[in-house]
Amino acid sequence: MLPTATMLDAKVPRYTSYPTAPHFHSGLGPETARQWISKLPAGKPVSLYLHIPFCDRLCWFCACHTKQTLRYEPVSAYLRVLQAEIATIGRLLDGHVPVGAIHLGGGSPTMLRPNDLIALGAYLRNALHVLPDADISIEIDPNDMDDQRLDALAEFGTTRASLGIQDFDPRVQEAINRLQSFEQTAYAVDGARARGINSVNLDLLYGLPHQTVESATATFRQALHLAPDRMALFGYAHVPWMKKHQTQIKDEWLPDGMERYAQSEAVRALALDAGYRAIGIDHFAMPGDTLTLASIQGRLRRNFQGYSADQCDAIIGLGPSAISQFAQGYLQNTPATGDYTRRIEDEGLATVRGVALSEDDRVRRWVIEKLMCDFRFSSDDAIRRFGALAGDVIMQAKHLAAMESDRLCEWRDHGFDVTPKGRPFVRLIAARFDTYFSAAPTRHSAAV
Ligand SMILES: C[S@@+](CC[C@H](N)C(=O)[O-])C[C@H]1O[C@@H](n2cnc3c(N)ncnc32)[C@H](O)[C@@H]1O
Ligand code: SF4
Repeated sequence: MLPTATMLDAKVPRYTSYPTAPHFHSGLGPETARQWISKLPAGKPVSLYLHIPFCDRLCWFCACHTKQTLRYEPVSAYLRVLQAEIATIGRLLDGHVPVGAIHLGGGSPTMLRPNDLIALGAYLRNALHVLPDADISIEIDPNDMDDQRLDALAEFGTTRASLGIQDFDPRVQEAINRLQSFEQTAYAVDGARARGINSVNLDLLYGLPHQTVESATATFRQALHLAPDRMALFGYAHVPWMKKHQTQIKDEWLPDGMERYAQSEAVRALALDAGYRAIGIDHFAMPGDTLTLASIQGRLRRNFQGYSADQCDAIIGLGPSAISQFAQGYLQNTPATGDYTRRIEDEGLATVRGVALSEDDRVRRWVIEKLMCDFRFSSDDAIRRFGALAGDVIMQAKHLAAMESDRLCEWRDHGFDVTPKGRPFVRLIAARFDTYFSAAPTRHSAAV
């Protein structure tokens, strides 16, 4: 069966959290953050996410929270404020809660001058108890890279590098205002590896303007020459009502739902053929990769950075717009850098919104994460974790499976399964368990 146009054009969340960010609300601030941090179990590692909201170029397709700047002064000023936030978190964790993973995202963290990146690393290790074997990952814009920056990545202690490619086709690159040669990308990958950074991820997109099955698969084949350990294949999220610069991309340049589906399926087939294992909805990893092992062993996690093998339950987000995740719920910093600066200077933290989880939210958060990671959840597992509270969601899953005429999901072996046919539409299936989504639909990107 081919997917219907309704399925392909449906707009649903990407479920990197539950409830999703549009359902966060005001009323949760630094007081809640201090309280939730104080409840973190001593000795159990947490993860940190540090947001760098700057880029030295602006790609028209980009949906990240970033600002283009050609001057470095705003970046230096920002780093001083970020240090103040790190210092606050350091005082709150008080050495009792170690840091097991640090992710530097953006924007483009590689915009930082080499000495600033090294100084940031030293500051983090001074203010916090960063474990010696902590996972340190960084998002890299290959166009930023030179020998000094590559050296700085190594000195920062980077263990994983994630590089943006998107597409190598010149026509596509021109339409998204992102010129990037294969040679410059290869230089960044090889340079990272030569400095001992052994885990390399590459980001690819489908559904971009002027992209075709041929151009998407040609890009994939080129990327394969770089022998990445992991690849992410995201569908381009066209959300011009949220990101004004995306209006530079004309609607008529975009492939339709059926073409997007064909592109993603073609690249997917090549990835599997090349020996990668599919991870969740949009990742591929080599057989021995930690992401693959986590996926096989049912330990794969999904958070704001996508899929992760990181087992830390709590993530503390620093920087404007950064989201923190706790057992109690989610908290988000103010998005505007000016407001963030004022709040950090006044209160040491910049939390302005979030959501505290109800008991029902906790069950559904687990179910949706399981579906997005494993395409399945077992009723025994749900009952073991949540007792009688799991009853509603199990009943709903059985009902959904019984009503499903296209066999996209089924109830089998005491569990709810998304069938191989249903996997490309797992976001649509997850949305059926999302009480907020059915109550108040908001605008999202295409499901496929
Ligand atoms: C912070 S960027 C990666 C690092 C670096 N800034 C770069 O561009 O190379 C994060 C990734 O998000 C993805 N991304 C950004 N905007 C997107 C959109 N509108 N739809 C889907 N993925 C998007 C891209 O694959 C991009 O590589
Ligand atoms: S894709 Fe990367 S480099 Fe381009 S604007 Fe977005 S964050 Fe910046």
